[in-house]
Order: sequence, then C-alpha cells, then structure tokens
Amino acid sequence: MRKRDIDICFYLKVLDEVLPGVLNTQERFDSPEIVSYYNKMGKLYKKYHSDEGAMHFPVKTNEFERHNEKLLYQALSVSQLIKTHSYTKIVELGCGFGFNSIFLARLFPNVQFIATDINEHNLNKAKRKAKLLHNLTFIRMNFNDPFPEFSCDVVFGVETLCYAERIKDVLKNISSNLNSNGRIVLFDCYEANQSTYAKLNTYESIAYKLVCWGWALKKFPAIQEVYSGAEECNLSVENEQDLTQNIISNYRVLQGTCKRIFQFPLIVRVCLKLKLLNRFLFMHIVNGLFGTYFIENQHLKYYHLILKKK
Ligand SMILES: C[S@@+](CC[C@H](N)C(=O)[O-])C[C@H]1O[C@@H](n2cnc3c(N)ncnc32)[C@H](O)[C@@H]1O
Repeated sequence: MRKRDIDICFYLKVLDEVLPGVLNTQERFDSPEIVSYYNKMGKLYKKYHSDEGAMHFPVKTNEFERHNEKLLYQALSVSQLIKTHSYTKIVELGCGFGFNSIFLARLFPNVQFIATDINEHNLNKAKRKAKLLHNLTFIRMNFNDPFPEFSCDVVFGVETLCYAERIKDVLKNISSNLNSNGRIVLFDCYEANQSTYAKLNTYESIAYKLVCWGWALKKFPAIQEVYSGAEECNLSVENEQDLTQNIISNYRVLQGTCKRIFQFPLIVRVCLKLKLLNRFLFMHIVNGLFGTYFIENQHLKYYHLILKKK
C-alpha cells in the first residue's frame, strides 16, 4: 500500500490552538452520547454524504461507479447470500436511517426484514421512509443489552459493531438466535495487528486516540476479537475480505477537505467557541484529518466478514 504521510506533529499543534486540551481528551462515549452523536452526524451524513441516508463507507470496485452505487456494495453482498441460500428472515444491527434494509426489503418483497438501532430519532425517519414496505419492521435495540428471542437466517451490521462493548457477547447473542444454516455479515474497521500499536510514536498515539474520539469510539476493535469471539460461539469464518483499498479514496477526499478547514485555525476556534461549529462535526473533522494515515499505514483495515454456524 502506498504510504502518504501527513505532518501529524504540525496538525496536533494546530488542534491544540483551536481547542486547547483536546490532545489530552479523556472523553468516554456511552450509549446516550452515541445517540447524540448520531442525531447530529445523521443530519450531516444526509446533507454531505448520502441523501438516501447511508452512513457508511462507499466501496469502490471500479473507476466508473457513482457514489450511490458504491454505497450499495454492503447491501448487495447481503443480497447475494439471500439469493444463494434462499433465506427468508434477516436482521440488521445498527441500521441508522435504514439505507441497507430498505434497499434489501424492496429487492426481496417475500423476505422478512427487521432493522434495529439504538437511535430512536433516526429509526423514526427510517420508518417514515419505509412506510409502504410491509416486509420491514424497525425496532429500537441496544446490541450491548441482552437480545430478545428471535430466529433468523442472517444478522448483518455495517460499521456498527465497532460500538460493541464486548464483541464476543454480541456474537453469542446473535448466534443463539441464528438458524442452523445462518450467517453473520459484518463490515467494519478493525485494528489490524496489535503489535503495530506498541510501535506508534508519541504523536501517532495521540493522533490515533483522536481518530477514535472522532468516531465516538473508545477504540476500534481488534480483528482478533472477532476471531476469538467466533471460536467461542462455535462460528467459523467463511469469508474475510480486506476492502481497505476500496475505501481509501473516499477517506483521502475527506482528509483533503479537513486539511483545508485547518488552514484557518482562528476561524475554526471562533466557530467552536460561538457554537457555530458543532462539537460532533469537529470530532468528525479531526477523524477525517488523521484517519487516512492509520489506514494507509495498515494499522486500521476495513473488512467484510462472514461468519457461519459450525
Ligand atoms: C456508522 S453508523 C452506520 C449506520 C448504518 N449501518 C449504515 O450503514 O448506514 C453506526 C450506527 O450504529 C448505531 N449504534 C451504535 N451503537 C449501537 C448500539 N449499542 N446498539 C445499536 N445500534 C448502535 C448508531 O446509532 C448508528 O446508527
């Protein structure tokens, strides 16, 4: 992978000017804060990323696709499984505005879909959009809590299980509700290799913490957490596809925009002080500034995983 550096040290100084103390932020995100984060970010995603309500990375597979087509990559991969195995009951975790489930429910009118999220506000918007779809139900659910009993063929989550307090517990809850030929489909960013984190220098470590902060995360889960969780839950890894290269161009565009914003640190500082710039948006800008570095240097990787009952 091509390595493109950003002057981390320079931008950390800029950030310290813009929001003094931010480099040492100890902010922790629990469920109510994640809800507030996605209340605000949801609106921004709709305005700048996808008016259809997708809140995930577009996956680029060729030069000719449009943005909206790239955003369908994750849902289309679930649709392949539904077709191949004639599945009839699908559950989505962390559905946001329901972009993936709404697309799939339209595609498969005879398949039942349940889309869940912790965020009631965004779920209500999804419900309104899907009011004519009789095969899609929305349920508010925190996947860190014990699951209600249900049975289904596929449980999928797009960029949401990174918010799991313990991935293993979520996998356990899912797998006890999964039918015998069932599958779990996950798209997420993961820490790729634990040993590389010990080698980060002081500036890189601060920047990495800020990337996590920018996502309202304690930290990205390690890919090993999924593997060991799967093992304990009697699940095998049927597919592990590294899509990092397919999301990087979008992240680079975001980084370019964020760099331009920080050409005017005084304005950013005043906007933050006067609350003209929302705190959550600022967090996202910081994530956009440094995130690419960790992707390009292979600390973070974006995976498509399929787990199957053994
Ligand atoms: C990056 S967004 C992805 C949304 C959607 N999957 C998509 O592809 O557009 C992450 C979603 O995870 C949801 N989420 C975060 N923590 C959650 C939890 N503990 N339980 C359920 N949903 C959660 C958020 O509310 C948000 O909608």
